[in-house]
Amino acid sequence: MADQGRMAVIGAGLMGHGIAQIFAGKGWQVSLTDVDEAILSKAIQGITANLTFLAQNGIGAVEDVEPALARIKTTLSLEEAAADADFVIEAVAEWLDLKQDLFSKLDAMCPPRTILATNTSVMSITEIASKSTNRTRIVGTHFWNPPYLVPLVEVVPGNDTVPEAVDSTYDVLKKVGKHPVKVRRDVPGFVGNRLQHALWREAISIVDQGIADAATVDEVIKNSFGIRLPVLGPLETADMVGLDLTLQIHDYILRHLDRSTEPASVLKEKVKKGDLGFKTGKGFQEWGAQSMDECRRRLTEHLIRWVREQKAG
Ligand code: NAI
Repeated sequence: MADQGRMAVIGAGLMGHGIAQIFAGKGWQVSLTDVDEAILSKAIQGITANLTFLAQNGIGAVEDVEPALARIKTTLSLEEAAADADFVIEAVAEWLDLKQDLFSKLDAMCPPRTILATNTSVMSITEIASKSTNRTRIVGTHFWNPPYLVPLVEVVPGNDTVPEAVDSTYDVLKKVGKHPVKVRRDVPGFVGNRLQHALWREAISIVDQGIADAATVDEVIKNSFGIRLPVLGPLETADMVGLDLTLQIHDYILRHLDRSTEPASVLKEKVKKGDLGFKTGKGFQEWGAQSMDECRRRLTEHLIRWVREQKAG
């Protein structure tokens, strides 16, 4: 695939508009499509605001904002967006039927050279590709939110994906400044979300059992191993402390950890009551407009600082 070709992003929501922004910022001609004109114009407003905000914070230049925006075209037609693209990334809602139908349409309309990627968070790439004919060029590209600040993208093959499609996707992602990793096998949740949700299951279980409240669980993580994680992964930590000690600890503790295959009852009850978190002002904790703003600001400032530090080397 060319370094700066034509790409199509299907779905202009939270992830899709951020993915379009990344490629347009690196010189790609981007077609962004969705089902509604209002969503597309909101996406362009979002990209404009993001690029401007990043430039004001030392990531990118103000004079590059307009040229990047000029490289993005919006359309309600899937065919117009994707038919002559070199690379397509699907970022529609997480519904298997919707993704399967979309890929079968994309497969029929795009030439064999076009790589077709899905940004699914957890679903099997093989299942998503199952209604398509040329499944060898269908891959998973799992970005993290916000995709223009969080570097990682998991590149995941389906059972029929050829290694060349994985390599090509990996190379393109690297060239647009992401940090791609290759996942060897198509398993639900890939690597990142398996790890993340193993932690969330235990965190929610601790609250469910009344061992600690939600704020204390988060306080523990943010002030202990959470501080180490950016520089030392769990497997590096295991090596550092010794695998003999790790074995002893696991021998004792694993039987006490949550192994349920169902969501926790506290989570189900809260959702049933309509306590959805930021969306309703109450979840595991109570949230007012000010505390939500403060939380979002804290995250953005942290990510910006982190990206700037990485750039500075
Ligand atoms: P979203 O709901 O913000 O955006 C989805 C968009 O897809 C909507 O604008 C919707 O109108 C559009 N859409 C639905 N059907 C369509 C169709 N047939 N053609 C074109 N557009 C269509 O969802 P979000 O959060 O951006 O998620 C998109 C995908 O990315 C999902 O698969 C999700 O699991 C995945 N993902 C989400 C992350 C997150 O933090 N939100 C992180 C990583 C992956």
